[in-house]
Amino acid sequence: MGKKSYEIRIYTTTHMDFELSEEHKILQSEVRKFAQNEIVPVAPKYDASGEFPMETIKKMGEMGLMGIEVPEEYGGAGMDTLAYVIVMEEIAAADAAHSTIVSVNNSLYNHAIMKYGTEEQKKKYVVPVATGEVIGAYALTEPQSGSDAGNIKTKAELSDDGEYYVINGRKSWITSGPVAKYIILFAQTQPELKHKGVTAFIIDTEKEGFIRGKTEPKLGIRASATCEIAFNNYKVPIEDRLGEEGQGFKIAMSVLDAGRIGIAAQSVGIARAAYEASVQYSKERYAFGQPIGKFQMIQQKIADMKTRIEASRLLVYNAAWKKMQSKKTGERYTLEASMAKLFASETAMFVAHQAVQIHGGMGYSKELPIERYFRDAKITEIYEGTSEIQRYVIARLETGLK
Ligand code: CAA
Repeated sequence: MGKKSYEIRIYTTTHMDFELSEEHKILQSEVRKFAQNEIVPVAPKYDASGEFPMETIKKMGEMGLMGIEVPEEYGGAGMDTLAYVIVMEEIAAADAAHSTIVSVNNSLYNHAIMKYGTEEQKKKYVVPVATGEVIGAYALTEPQSGSDAGNIKTKAELSDDGEYYVINGRKSWITSGPVAKYIILFAQTQPELKHKGVTAFIIDTEKEGFIRGKTEPKLGIRASATCEIAFNNYKVPIEDRLGEEGQGFKIAMSVLDAGRIGIAAQSVGIARAAYEASVQYSKERYAFGQPIGKFQMIQQKIADMKTRIEASRLLVYNAAWKKMQSKKTGERYTLEASMAKLFASETAMFVAHQAVQIHGGMGYSKELPIERYFRDAKITEIYEGTSEIQRYVIARLETGLK
């Protein structure tokens, strides 16, 4: 019997690489410079007044940040999802409200039309938003249906000649609603079919029958304007329907998968800002004759904050990667998006909470941005699906049980 030789093979792969590409590093450094120089100084003013920061949003439009993943032929920057989350983190680290506006334009509005729109719709409705000329929004939530998104009541009835739909109903909590020129709207075309009767439309807010409610006063992200909107016999031409009749709920959900990656990246940005301020403060603030950063109770906070932020960013990059892969594979990235959103948003809240505690009275004061990070962080656990909804989505996908 011959001697059996065992061979150990080492498989190398070029796919596992935690280093950002040169292009991504340049983007990160340019956007960081812009955000720190142009947004940080104005953020407290907009937070206090609740005014929409149109001036900085226009500048971001000129930089391509309102259409990051939109191909250049449609007015965008033609970058990828990793670029999008890098931008979201940098803008959010400067001011969460600005990043909310970036996120809705990019991953809810543009993404919906780029994925489901016709060529004409892309040209007419994506170009002006991707270039930052006008603002886009996304209207799903209604006064009686937040988490239960399939329970919407806004109605869209096809006219007898089949040329247009007549829309009646109300939508609430519409981010960028007070300033949006165009809105992706979800309405019932066959209410008896519940979620299977939902259809998506593109709305021009300058047309008759569109009504804006008052801007909502909010705890955080105060410069990102939010309002209720209503439709009173609003007519939408058939060519402005997005996708097919009855496809709306799936459009809403799949677009939210992309949106949740953006909110996860926003959460990392808020957490990073709160963390960096806390590290600095722990070195400068003395108590009992030494920097507070030397006390174990502060060290524990710093260690937990840093570890959770790093873990969140990895989940965000993983979800962004899965979304990029899905262009080739067609696979959904619902699980990765929900895990990133869940963990990163709870991290943002945890870190902002610890940051206030580390800063003590100064964390509670309006003199520093720490209390703003704390107020802003909370929304990330609520919008684009609460933490409870993310856990529900994850557990259902893992168990297969409904
Ligand atoms: N992608 C594609 N299709 C999806 C999907 C996804 N991610 N998730 C569900 N679907 C499909 C299902 O496959 C199913 O298809 P069939 O009818 O062919 O079987 C259909 O949609 C219905 O799905 P479910 O049975 O899972 O629906 P459900 O009623 O149980 O609801 C839910 C699921 C996860 C709870 C969903 O309603 C949800 O995500 N709720 C939260 C809503 C939300 O996030 N709202 C945020 C508002 S927007 C916002 O916040 C914007 C802002 O301000 C910035």
